[in-house]
Amino acid sequence: MLPVLVAAATALVAYLLTRHLQRTTAPPPPGPPCRPLLGLDPKLIPPSAPWKRFAEWGTKYGPVSSFHILGQRSIVINSFAAAGELLNKRASVYSERPLRQMLDVVMDRGSAVFNVTASDERHKVYRRILHGTLNQRSVASFHPMLEQESRAFVKRLANDVGPQKFEEHVRHNVISVIMRIAFGYSMQEGDTFVAGIQNAVRLSSLGATPGRWLVDYLPILRFVPSWFPGAEFKRLGWEWKKVIDDQLYRPFQWTKDRVAEGKAEQSFTATQLHENAHLPEHWLVKCAAAIYIGGADTTASAMICFFLAMSLYPDVQQKAQAEVDAITGGERLPTCKDIPQLKYLRRVMQEVLRWGTVVPLAIPHAALRDDEYNGYRIEKGATIFPNLWGMFHDPEVYPSPDTFDPDRFAPEAENAGVSPPPDPLDWAFGFGKRICPGLHFAQTSLFLNMASVLSVFDISKERDSTGAELEPNFEFTTGITSTATAFGCTVKPRSPESLSLIA
Ligand code: HEM
Repeated sequence: MLPVLVAAATALVAYLLTRHLQRTTAPPPPGPPCRPLLGLDPKLIPPSAPWKRFAEWGTKYGPVSSFHILGQRSIVINSFAAAGELLNKRASVYSERPLRQMLDVVMDRGSAVFNVTASDERHKVYRRILHGTLNQRSVASFHPMLEQESRAFVKRLANDVGPQKFEEHVRHNVISVIMRIAFGYSMQEGDTFVAGIQNAVRLSSLGATPGRWLVDYLPILRFVPSWFPGAEFKRLGWEWKKVIDDQLYRPFQWTKDRVAEGKAEQSFTATQLHENAHLPEHWLVKCAAAIYIGGADTTASAMICFFLAMSLYPDVQQKAQAEVDAITGGERLPTCKDIPQLKYLRRVMQEVLRWGTVVPLAIPHAALRDDEYNGYRIEKGATIFPNLWGMFHDPEVYPSPDTFDPDRFAPEAENAGVSPPPDPLDWAFGFGKRICPGLHFAQTSLFLNMASVLSVFDISKERDSTGAELEPNFEFTTGITSTATAFGCTVKPRSPESLSLIA
């Protein structure tokens, strides 16, 4: 280990001195105090809900603040105006991703859809082919499948209604739909493809954990040969790379076999094997995996927040149920065709994505080159954190931000001439050239599931043995995605008639 540390220390001093000398006159955006060379004390960023600390910095230092750790600059954006200007209008500068040595280089995940730099040819190709399956028109071709899966979801809820069971059924529904879209594959109980992808996601998260790998702070360490003392990270990284590649390939191969037999269901992979067979196969594998990785946790988290909000706000629930009933007459389950008429339910979805903030810091972007904003210098390579949670919980923009209130999105005419605040659907899915390619699909699937659940069930707080309501005990989890921790709620059929809708 000693030789590695000596090499590391020498490289660190050289790197920091170079960075120091490269400074131009424009200062970086203001921010919390940083020590010379070392920068911010990492303890000032709490491991739990760091977005709350970032939001405090927004109040103290302004909408664009910054700090550095060992010379690596990070920029935190806390306002819609700054996010719109930098990440959307200047998308050609701010659509890169920060390079993480362990994950992107040692584990070779740098060419994955989420991580590939925007200036790489593959980024454009990935986006084009994902858009081909996930654009609004193509999503419409999946409506019958979504309706079928939504009905199965509601049925499972009806048959198995323990206080925390709903979460299991939500996840089952989301993964089942995604496996069909990505691979045309019907998930089985204890599915080994799903377990494999989840393991690949787990290993990738380990590789991406900030502060865990010295090589992330001292990139030169990646050149250390794997037999060198202290270079276990390299052996581990390669081992994980092989496992991830294998586990992401297996469902792809399954679809490839079905295509060859002429028995494939409509799916992203089947389409690509027909239309883009000239592209390197591992590009297609990465895109199919991205549908799962991007879509599973996010959509499930939003749906779980919906259950929580409905149990906490019965008035909102009744209003949404009345709207759904007015369209279906209480005689059928809602379909995707009903969605445009469900105006109040749309506000509920807007509020779920704001209040629950499923991806609180989006996915960090990076600056392609030096830039200036309001007289401050944003240096090439800086990591950009769009603090979506901070923007969605800014009391100046959304009064009483912790209250779940869909009516804040009512149009001006219905809301005493007050114009609605920024629409979370325009922001919750990210920015510029990295905007979420699954946004149409996610919204359709959330809308349909919310409407179907409301048409059949009442969701309320859990009760104790005396029948008294229990306040749900929950907090929001910390990770790339965030959702409410396990909480109990009662999911009860509204009436025998409502139950007959899924008979
Ligand atoms: C409620 C559901 C969802 C939310 C809130 C959400 C949000 C996001 C956000 C914030 C980003 C980062 C954008 C940026 O870097 O600026 C993202 C990226 C991405 N999402 Fe989603 N997403 C959702 C569902 C989905 C679904 C259903 C899919 C696939 C079917 C998907 C696929 C992706 C992919 C592939 C990326 C990476 C894009 C890139 O780096 O170029 N997402 N999503």
